[in-house]
Amino acid sequence: SRDAPYDGQAPTTLEEVAAGIEACRRCELWRDATQGVPGEGPGKARLMLVGEQPGDQEDLAGQPFVGPAGGVLDKALAAAGVPRAETFVTNAVKHFKHELRGKRRLHKTPGAGEVSACRWWLDAERRIVRPRVIVALGATAALSVFGKATPIGKFRQQAIQLPDQVQGVVTYHPSYLLRVPDAEAKAKAYAMFVEDLKFAWHLAA
Ligand code: URA
Repeated sequence: SRDAPYDGQAPTTLEEVAAGIEACRRCELWRDATQGVPGEGPGKARLMLVGEQPGDQEDLAGQPFVGPAGGVLDKALAAAGVPRAETFVTNAVKHFKHELRGKRRLHKTPGAGEVSACRWWLDAERRIVRPRVIVALGATAALSVFGKATPIGKFRQQAIQLPDQVQGVVTYHPSYLLRVPDAEAKAKAYAMFVEDLKFAWHLAA
């Protein structure tokens, strides 16, 4: 029913968050997803990375950033000297929004209503993990983390004050880096992404 546990008390552990996401009916995305994908990482991480939503592979694995975008993220984190295992990696939206094209499941960008409904879970992760710095990867994550549109080109390389002494940082989404058509522009954007991850890591130190 509509008053099942997901609408009850805010979760206080990451296990409760994971169970709550699995039972979540706050929006309709659960219907076509394999499973919910909660955040992953140490409960006391100093740095939280927030993506948009799980992709095809994440939906199947139940883990964030394990597909192609995860490959770019892993490479960039290594280049920035940031151990992924010391970060908490999550998404603004916890179920995979997609449309069927033949057998392929094509990514669809979540809407403001889905982002807003799912902020309940991101906020719970924020309260439990209490990171010093939160990095929003791309525009959807930035909308969720900052509560308003936050243009990346204008705000990257800045510490944005969030409640409870938390600093926010915005940078590109790794999937965007895969799509930049021009090779030179792509390399530049990737280099900026690595710089932004370094910036965030030092801010969190
Ligand atoms: N893209 C995201 O934003 N998050 C994931 O977990 C995977 C791809």
